[in-house]
Amino acid sequence: MSKRALILGGTGLIGRAAARRLRAHGWTVDAPGREVDREDPAAIARALGDGADLLVDCLCYTAEHARTLLPLARAATSTVMISAKAVYVDDQGRHVNSPEPPRFPGPVTEDQPTMAPGSGDFQTREGYGANKVAAERTLLDSGLPITVLRPSKVHGVGNKRPLERYFVERVLARHPWWCWPAVARAPTTRPQRPTSPR
Ligand SMILES: NC(=O)c1ccc[n+]([C@@H]2O[C@H](COP(=O)([O-])OP(=O)(O)OC[C@H]3O[C@@H](n4cnc5c(N)ncnc54)[C@H](OP(=O)(O)O)[C@@H]3O)[C@@H](O)[C@H]2O)c1
Repeated sequence: MSKRALILGGTGLIGRAAARRLRAHGWTVDAPGREVDREDPAAIARALGDGADLLVDCLCYTAEHARTLLPLARAATSTVMISAKAVYVDDQGRHVNSPEPPRFPGPVTEDQPTMAPGSGDFQTREGYGANKVAAERTLLDSGLPITVLRPSKVHGVGNKRPLERYFVERVLARHPWWCWPAVARAPTTRPQRPTSPR
């Protein structure tokens, strides 16, 4: 019998890619978008129904979101929460949404320190990573079989802000292309919104 997955936020960049991959491997996938409101615990419980082999939450931004996920995680064999690399801080406490970008001495691993958990507005530069940490801890402290993933910038089909498109189109058209690493590091050109897809 086919395994079943439920993907909350399944109409987004990561949710759609996960659904495609699972379906290609024979899974039955429910990947709702706004018709299953993530802010409505009863709606997401209805979407889960009797349970699932895999529950993926692409819309878990706060500890409160995490608390509403816990009862569903008990009814799923395995649960995956999509966090973000925005949780990591360098030795000066800087993170990707700081006024000054972080400087990591090498590849960032799971042992890298994170921001302290926070509960302010998660749609702000300081609040995004801190709320993700709070959500992560709520889930991981539950002892349930929950996996937290911390992607960096994700590219691909369905990207609402395809910043890489300019370069890809130039390469496909065989135009010369170049990178501006100095510009990319300059604080004045850093995005004014958090590295959140919302
Ligand atoms: N994309 C990245 O580069 C990246 C990097 C690091 C971490 N992440 C994390 O990965 C997760 C998924 O990101 P994503 O880029 O796949 O997001 P996304 O493309 O913005 O997808 C989210 C989807 O959920 C829908 N949605 C929004 N609010 C909803 C609600 N209340 N109820 C039901 N559906 C709702 C959106 O609908 P609309 O289209 O109508 O808005 C959209 O289709 C996020 O938690 C994010 O923090 C993403």
